[in-house]
Amino acid sequence: MEIINTIIIALWLMLPAFLANMAPAIITHISGTGKPLDGGKYIGNNRILGDGKTIRGLIAGIITGITMALIQNMLAEYLNMPLFSIIAMITLPLGTLSGDIAGSFIKRRINIERGKALPLVDQLDFVTGAWLFTLIFDYKWFINYFTLPIIIAIIIITPLFHWLFNIIGYKLGVCKEPW
Ligand code: CTP
Ligand code: MG
Repeated sequence: MEIINTIIIALWLMLPAFLANMAPAIITHISGTGKPLDGGKYIGNNRILGDGKTIRGLIAGIITGITMALIQNMLAEYLNMPLFSIIAMITLPLGTLSGDIAGSFIKRRINIERGKALPLVDQLDFVTGAWLFTLIFDYKWFINYFTLPIIIAIIIITPLFHWLFNIIGYKLGVCKEPW
């Protein structure tokens, strides 16, 4: 089945980004929230980013994403799945966390409080970041694997997974809101 195949490869390619995006919520749940990335500073009446973006979360996300890509590369040949380039192993997690931060920056600028939902931005900010960073720094690897069907699959799958994992996280007490 062509569609199933596309979905499996799409998930494989995005797994480092998905885990990089989930790690901060888990680490802050376990070890408490650390220093906010914006240092508590404001632009006008709103925080630059807010308390939901921490140094601890950023580091945890990047390490988790890179570790996942390393593990996947060890299994890639055996499973007949795409290999991550060294650059992509870094840009996927780094772009993920940067996209998530950019999303919070946008939310604060349009007066949406930390933790309040902004549909589509909440679900796809990190995907956009991961793609952009990888496209810029390893164009060849990116266009080789991120074909149009793969990209479409990711845009459809990601919000579904995001929603599903947030519900699970909410039930487990990791997430404060079910979105
Ligand atoms: N988190 C973090 N550092 C990051 C990203 C996330 O510590 N760089 C943690 C925070 O505890 C955050 C949780 O992960 O509350 C969930 O992340 P997210 O939904 O992106 O943050 P929100 O709290 O919803 O804040 P925002 O409205 O800015 O998206
Ligand atoms: Mg949120």
